[in-house]
Amino acid sequence: MKELYHHILDQLKHNSGKNIFSKPDISKLEFIQSTSDILSNYKLSNMDKKSENDLIEFTIKNTLDQFYKTNQFYSFDQESIQELREIYKNLFSDLKKISEKTDYKELSVVSDNHYITLKNWIKKSNAFAEKIYTDKYAYLKQDVVCSEYSPEIQIELLGIELENIIEPVLDIGCGKNANLVNHFHNLGYAVFGIDRSVGNSSILQNTSWLEYDFKPETWGTLISNLGFSNHFNHHHLREDGSYIDYAKKYMEILNSLKIGGSFYYAPGVPFIEKFLNNNLFNVEYKSIHETDFNAIHIKRLK
Ligand SMILES: C[S@@+](CC[C@H](N)C(=O)[O-])C[C@H]1O[C@@H](n2cnc3c(N)ncnc32)[C@H](O)[C@@H]1O
Repeated sequence: MKELYHHILDQLKHNSGKNIFSKPDISKLEFIQSTSDILSNYKLSNMDKKSENDLIEFTIKNTLDQFYKTNQFYSFDQESIQELREIYKNLFSDLKKISEKTDYKELSVVSDNHYITLKNWIKKSNAFAEKIYTDKYAYLKQDVVCSEYSPEIQIELLGIELENIIEPVLDIGCGKNANLVNHFHNLGYAVFGIDRSVGNSSILQNTSWLEYDFKPETWGTLISNLGFSNHFNHHHLREDGSYIDYAKKYMEILNSLKIGGSFYYAPGVPFIEKFLNNNLFNVEYKSIHETDFNAIHIKRLK
């Protein structure tokens, strides 16, 4: 089984950075050579259902990470993730059929069809991609800035006053490594984190902030460093952006603060902050050193 997992990672690495929209003659997404060895070494049809599902979930997670690596503004809701699951189930079933044969001639047909299906899926789930990644580019840059920061940097940048922290704390878009959540947890705070790339645990939840239910008057402190508001800005500026979904979620997030609670985030979203009712929310701006951006501290007054 270990070999199969390695094979999937090698496969993703092989196609990593290739533009799925490019003309096939300049770069082509394809199965790697060793796929036929894998098919002859493993009788896929003998695999139990659980192992098959684990393999498919592993492939989905790593495929999504590849897309996020190219562009952090790719967005996949539960429906499109379910569609991706179906794509990999069908692929697995095709590979199973081939593995029962003695020759693997059809492998290239399965490969071509798979990448056409994947391209159609991305066109449907993230229509903007085809407009920016035109068929002229064979490869896409994968060095887009989407980092994680130390707890000290985040606390300093957002101007969080530890002595004024009200619990429970929720970090929205806490990062795969959940640096700030772990730091607060070690200091003894009741703290939780959500992120679409984080593993699940008693304090961390893998989910999209757009699908997370921010219950009214629940959180003492909300934090989001270069997370929700960064994406809200992007959708506000993008022609086909989901700015209404983001605006609704932003209000849901603010209303999930307890009275007296605080939301610390950066960058600011001035196009909506200026419309907040200042009887209900106090907005404080803190300029971020050597940038044109602000960190924001919103306090819920009543
Ligand atoms: C620039 S990183 C910042 C991480 C962390 N806040 C820090 O400062 O170290 C942005 C994070 O937002 C997460 N993210 C992006 N879109 C998301 C979404 N729709 N729902 C949940 N998390 C998301 C990414 O997975 C990434 O971990």
